[in-house]
Amino acid sequence: MHAAEIVDLFAGPGGLDVAACWLTVPVIGIEMDADACATRRAAGLRTEEGDVRAFGPADFPDATVLAGGPPCQTYTVAGSGAGRRALDDVLHFAKRMAADEDVTADLAELKDERTALVLEPLRWALAAVERGRPYEAIVLEQVPAVLPVWKAVGEALESRGYSVACGVLCAEEFGVPQTRRRAILIARLNDKAEMPKATHRPYRKRVPRDAGDPERKQWVTMGDALDRSEPFVVVSNYGTGGDPKARGRRTSAEPAATVTGKISRNRVVTLGGLERPRFTFAEAGQLQTFPADYPWAGRDIAQQIGNAIPPRLAAHVLAAALDFGDEVLTAAVSGGTPWKAAGTDSTYSSPRPENGDASFPAPAVRARRSVETVNPTTRQAAGVVGTVRRELPQTIRR
Ligand SMILES: C[S@@+](CC[C@H](N)C(=O)[O-])C[C@H]1O[C@@H](n2cnc3c(N)ncnc32)[C@H](O)[C@@H]1O
Repeated sequence: MHAAEIVDLFAGPGGLDVAACWLTVPVIGIEMDADACATRRAAGLRTEEGDVRAFGPADFPDATVLAGGPPCQTYTVAGSGAGRRALDDVLHFAKRMAADEDVTADLAELKDERTALVLEPLRWALAAVERGRPYEAIVLEQVPAVLPVWKAVGEALESRGYSVACGVLCAEEFGVPQTRRRAILIARLNDKAEMPKATHRPYRKRVPRDAGDPERKQWVTMGDALDRSEPFVVVSNYGTGGDPKARGRRTSAEPAATVTGKISRNRVVTLGGLERPRFTFAEAGQLQTFPADYPWAGRDIAQQIGNAIPPRLAAHVLAAALDFGDEVLTAAVSGGTPWKAAGTDSTYSSPRPENGDASFPAPAVRARRSVETVNPTTRQAAGVVGTVRRELPQTIRR
């Protein structure tokens, strides 16, 4: 694929965008949370600050690749609770959208707006097909429980000629110093879609790092990733197996547990049990493979960090979707290069800045900015913000 340019829906503080910049692929993110946008601006990432639902492919005519990590409910697949019903709703809507039905009014009736948000990437993909400019590649990311949604979205994309691959990837198998599982969809229009190949061994408690597939590298530890002067143990705020006393523990010789918005509640102690400073934002970002000098900004930084896809994992996924060879990918994830904030001689700010403005929207897009700012009290752990901010101009159909 040539001249790829990505539009990233629900772009957060820029996990996927950082990966795109490493791969030198131009990217613009749509994000409505003022705090995440503050980080994006500080990082020099091109950003449209607004509600994804207020835009569509015609607003980003240069984009050839669609990416997205929409906020989602926790779908409890086992059992028959509200999660299962929400999942059934989403799967049903995905089918109707694939059949060209206008589901706008029905989606607006739903109590939980995340049901509609998780279908936004499909709305964009179908709208792009309808306007005769289908995306050449599509990349979606969320927690593992969303895999059935990606499969339903995948079926809809296959009906429009895409090749689709879906699956759950483990971040530590791609060199991220953290165990984190993510449901990924990759769709390609003109080529076969395939998931990226793992490069590192899976982490298993009490299985030595050097055991396992000799073709793969050892998993990366927190000690490898962070610049601390002594070995340490992270004591989770949560009990395991429902027992609050049985706190989860990981040593610096292991990958971190999944980084969430609550990471600052975890204690960090020496092997002998002495308290040490808790993780800084920079360190939490590094456990997610953000550059050490990534310029976190705004409020709720821990939540911003916990919401993001690890850039290193995103680089592997994007490289698979865009057919980048090993050499490009290896150079992209080699690390060690400072990020440098916008306004400096940034190495990584967008390859295609417009007028030097980091939040660069094209004039037509600029005119459609969301008029309200985000109310922080409506922000929820899953990254959902706010309610519909104004009448939306587009119907939710292809
Ligand atoms: C799971 S996070 C995505 C993180 C991102 N992929 C990254 O790697 O940094 C979901 C994001 O969607 C944003 N969001 C929620 N509803 C939105 C909407 N209607 N329009 C735009 N952004 C929205 C949230 O503020 C949050 O940052």
